[in-house]
Amino acid sequence: MKNKIKIAVFALLFYANTGYSQNTLFIPDTVSGPMVTLQIQNGQTTCFPGFTTQTMGFNGNILGPTILLRRNRPVDLRVLNTLSDTTTVHWHGLHVAPQHDGGPHTYILPGALWNPAFTVHDWAGTYWYHPHLHYKTNEHVSKGLAGFIIVRDSLEEALALPRTYGVDDFPLLLQTKSFDSNRQITIDNPYDSVVLVNGTRQAILNVPAQCVRFRLLNGSSERVMNVGFTSNLGFHMIGSDGGLLEQPVALNRLQLAPGERAEVLVNLQGRTGQSIQLMSYGAELPNAFYGAAQPGMGAGQVIPGYSLNPLNGSNFTLLTLSVGAALPQGVFSVPATLIPHEPWLESQADTTRTFTFMPENMGPTAIQGPFMINNQHFDMQVINHRIPFNNTEIWELVNQTPIAHPFHIHDVQFYVLSVNGQLPAPQLRGRKDVVMVPAGMGRVRFITRFETHHNNHIPYMYHCHMLTHEDHGMMGQFLVVSPSVDLEELPKKHQPSLICYPNPASDFIHLTMKTDALDFWNLKLRDLRGRPVLRQDKGSFPFELSLVTLPKGAYFVHCHTKYGKHVAKILRH
Ligand code: C2O
Ligand code: CU
Ligand code: CU
Repeated sequence: MKNKIKIAVFALLFYANTGYSQNTLFIPDTVSGPMVTLQIQNGQTTCFPGFTTQTMGFNGNILGPTILLRRNRPVDLRVLNTLSDTTTVHWHGLHVAPQHDGGPHTYILPGALWNPAFTVHDWAGTYWYHPHLHYKTNEHVSKGLAGFIIVRDSLEEALALPRTYGVDDFPLLLQTKSFDSNRQITIDNPYDSVVLVNGTRQAILNVPAQCVRFRLLNGSSERVMNVGFTSNLGFHMIGSDGGLLEQPVALNRLQLAPGERAEVLVNLQGRTGQSIQLMSYGAELPNAFYGAAQPGMGAGQVIPGYSLNPLNGSNFTLLTLSVGAALPQGVFSVPATLIPHEPWLESQADTTRTFTFMPENMGPTAIQGPFMINNQHFDMQVINHRIPFNNTEIWELVNQTPIAHPFHIHDVQFYVLSVNGQLPAPQLRGRKDVVMVPAGMGRVRFITRFETHHNNHIPYMYHCHMLTHEDHGMMGQFLVVSPSVDLEELPKKHQPSLICYPNPASDFIHLTMKTDALDFWNLKLRDLRGRPVLRQDKGSFPFELSLVTLPKGAYFVHCHTKYGKHVAKILRH
């Protein structure tokens, strides 16, 4: 630890002398359409003039393309891992079946291709993708593996909002990272003193003098951002993690914890020629948020080296906006209302589950972690919860540690019911998949429903989105279990047969058994000459199969369940 401190002090002094030059903000390319190809690769990036930083990216040296998806449309993703390391890719915030979710069980070995395919069920909004291999998430994300997903739909398109990507609608990935004296990215220490937006240090962006939409994503390993603009320029938050809010919320500051997204509109009308800073007002963060002057509730809780990081407890620039002329087709006002919501009601809940965060060690080092949930560290082999399919549940999060944790759940979006017993602030009333749980007995309750997908074998994750905490075990997993039907009892002639629809199919076919609730051990597609063309080990019905890669023609589906072998003929047209 002592050594690390020395390196950091040296590094900080060095940066102080490098002067301030501005770099044009990097805007990732977009990819869209029914098939998206991502290649995970090693790269090299010049983060500091004269130095080459080893990074990782999707289809490039760092970060990844912005994936544009449409609600209710199928997408077929080809993810090729060219690293010499195993990884996974998780679609953070998307409501997909667990075998497509990219959690820690869905390895992509070096050289392997992973081919998830699913229908987009999500609301128009801002989501993201990143690796999720247990123990390696922080390393892979910190080295650059992160990208945006933008979902579009007709409800969002009916609103007068800026939506021209890279013109009046910008994705902003906010990160702080730590670098060693050779300008290589390091992890697992509190010296994340380098601010990067879309991988760009000291970034500048030209924006038109009109309403501009920013899709903010805090992709930092630990740091909470407290976003605002200089000159106390106000803005409107229009969307949270899972889509647009019911109505815009006028704000001067917005806290954004790791994993969280927010869409904001800032009206720059009449400001041509001005330079405005997008800031993180860290000096205003309450104690016990990572990034505040005190990371814990009191001076007694220290993280070694934390106070050496000049970003902690201070205000710093994320991005400089240079305002140019307005564009002819610009938006100049903020809509009064956005999207109607129908949150689940507490009275609809089937169950309440409690998740208590606790430090492994009590006392003055409690804040340094590791942290546990319900007295357990993450264990790949242990399923922490079995949730009945279609359950509506209240989850109660209780934080018995001295630092606030951003809790994230896979599969679903939720509605926050209360924070420390109070109704949530307006910015927390939309659909969420990450929520900050305040320190020192802080209590958050949310409600959600586990619908659409179930699988008796492949779990979803819930965890703290501070990546150091996650990697050190502040994570658990749950199965959404199939409705239990005991088919064993049925006489042979009533035993289920395989149903395929639509048949003929074009891109996707749904496979199910009459009962809709059966596991299969393996599933194969063979062509007419009996050659296997697709296979899937373990899963449960209903199962959605992508045919996008296959030539048109007839195929046989073979699958094994506890009843034996089932075969059906399908046609791709
Ligand atoms: Cu963004 Cu399980 O993570
Ligand atoms: Cu996630
Ligand atoms: Cu945490």
